Amino acid sequence: MNELLTIALSKGRIFKETLPLLKHAGIEPLDDPETSRKLILDTNRPEVKLVIIRATDVPTYVQYGAADVGVAGKDVLMEHGGEGLYEPLDLNIARCRMMVAGPASAPAVDGRLRIATKYVNCARRFFAEQGQQVEIIKLYGSMELAPLVGLADRIVDLVDTGNTLKANGLAPLEHMADISSRLIVNKASMKMKHRRVKNFIEAMAQAVQD
Ligand code: ATP
Ligand code: PRP
Repeated sequence: MNELLTIALSKGRIFKETLPLLKHAGIEPLDDPETSRKLILDTNRPEVKLVIIRATDVPTYVQYGAADVGVAGKDVLMEHGGEGLYEPLDLNIARCRMMVAGPASAPAVDGRLRIATKYVNCARRFFAEQGQQVEIIKLYGSMELAPLVGLADRIVDLVDTGNTLKANGLAPLEHMADISSRLIVNKASMKMKHRRVKNFIEAMAQAVQD
């Protein structure tokens, strides 16, 4: 019997950049998530399904075994904590940096800095390690706006080209982490579907190398 393998992916950047790797591993979706409204996609391999979810939900689905494996940004994994997951492979896609940023001519701030971010756990950890007292304001997107309207002194966000920061009069201030997407695996699936999962990891590792 061929065991089912469920792969969790998010739409957009991760789907686009994972697609060539999956293809190299012999897996091709039968639908395009950008146009299809389906959340479970069949592939050319009857025993392989893709589930299409929000980027931040990928570790949760894999943690609980609702998907055996998934692709998630290191930013999302750091924020999630990685409980119940293995992280066997760096896919080297969707590369960027997590940074502290602020107004290009950052005024000195007296007292506690206010930090706006969707990465509250990463930010809390980073500033605690620096021994800096901060107040963290949780946002769900468009972090770059926060310093412009006086919501925060700094942001913690992802930076690639730096164009988004620049377009908003912001500058990168501190590097926190290099980010790329990782293959993640449910711990129980790794045991119970060992051969299936191991073959998939090896095929993806080969795809990354080539
Ligand atoms: P959600 O829908 O859950 O809010 P999102 O909108 O952040 O997630 P994407 O923009 O598709 O989702 O980003 C997915 C992943 O791609 C991020 O977690 C990060 O690892 C990486 N990423 C985000 N922005 C960039 C960028 N500008 N350049 C390269 N990689 C990026
Ligand atoms: C991400 C991130 C920054 C931007 C950084 O957003 O939250 O806003 O990319 O990239 P840059 O340094 O190259 O400008 P988002 O996922 O919206 O980026 P996108 O516009 O590329 O989709």
